Amino acid sequence: MADTPIRGSAAGPRFPVPTIPAPSVGVIGLGQLGGSLAAALVAGGRPVSGWDVDPAARDAAAARGVHITREFAGLVVLAVPLPVTSTALEGLSVDTDATVTDIGSVKRPVLETLGARLGSRFVGGHPMCGTERSGHTAVDPALFTGARWAVCFEPDTEPARWLRVAEVALAVGAEVVPVTASEHDDAVAAISHVPHLIAAALAAAAAESGPLALALAAGSFASGTRVAASDPAFVTAMVEGNALPAAAALARVQTQLARPWPELVAAGHEVVTRTPGRRPVRVPLERAALLALGRAGGAVTRRLAAFVEGWVPDAG
Ligand SMILES: NC(=O)c1ccc[n+]([C@@H]2O[C@H](COP(=O)([O-])OP(=O)(O)OC[C@H]3O[C@@H](n4cnc5c(N)ncnc54)[C@H](O)[C@@H]3O)[C@@H](O)[C@H]2O)c1
Repeated sequence: MADTPIRGSAAGPRFPVPTIPAPSVGVIGLGQLGGSLAAALVAGGRPVSGWDVDPAARDAAAARGVHITREFAGLVVLAVPLPVTSTALEGLSVDTDATVTDIGSVKRPVLETLGARLGSRFVGGHPMCGTERSGHTAVDPALFTGARWAVCFEPDTEPARWLRVAEVALAVGAEVVPVTASEHDDAVAAISHVPHLIAAALAAAAAESGPLALALAAGSFASGTRVAASDPAFVTAMVEGNALPAAAALARVQTQLARPWPELVAAGHEVVTRTPGRRPVRVPLERAALLALGRAGGAVTRRLAAFVEGWVPDAG
């Protein structure tokens, strides 16, 4: 299928921009990601409801201004560990018209469970931020500022519900990348799941070298292994939940490692020192055009009337 071309325009809007009523937001799971989202929305003046099975996480969120409840409407954000994402709504009262999104690191399994159950009310998402810390003590209201936030647009996704999720991401300072669950999982295997596996392998291999190697470890070792400090349960659920794309991405790394070292070092250097500019674009609020923007490496930064504004990489 041919992609809809991205129409670029840096001009401002020529029509009045309607005020979009902000839907109420409920966050289930008030740990690092959910607590940070709730805190950022509260800081932006938005009423936020929340729930967590951990009383300490509930207390911490309440102290930041989150209304603790088990009743939700509007937009419901599931910010719980991956293994409980499909069951976290059980025991809660959720309005039958509520839009439900999640922020899990793998999208296909959630689409197959929650998506199958909730139909077009479910819109998957994944903010590309977070640290190796976890729990409510790791909450940071600035966590999403400047981050990319993948928001899934499947064939049966209702544009209005997709927008509800996108608008919350934009409200906390993120840039929205339209994707399908499948495209997302293939992409994050390469840039997140394999780096977690490699960080673990680097750390384990260095330990095998003995105490002298660990005593001399400095910047490059720390950068390469930082994410190995993440909660092992979180990383295991993530890589096992995306096993086939992660294995394929790992195989590409192994192929790279077989190249002559000078060639490999030069190729990697070229990728990470590339600094493409940003070409502003305006894209219609329509699935094919939005997905084309995401595939081009671009993102949405603002919603207008029937359009969104954003950018695509510009090599110059
Ligand atoms: N950590 C990251 O870097 C990162 C980045 C992007 C997305 N994610 C995704 O975000 C989600 C949450 O990750 P996190 O790092 O915030 O984890 P976290 O451990 O910091 O927080 C999870 C919270 O969910 C609560 N919880 C567990 N089961 C629950 C249930 N049934 N109902 C309500 N609350 C429940 C826990 O008590 C905890 O407070 C995961 O799905 C993860 O894949 C994580």
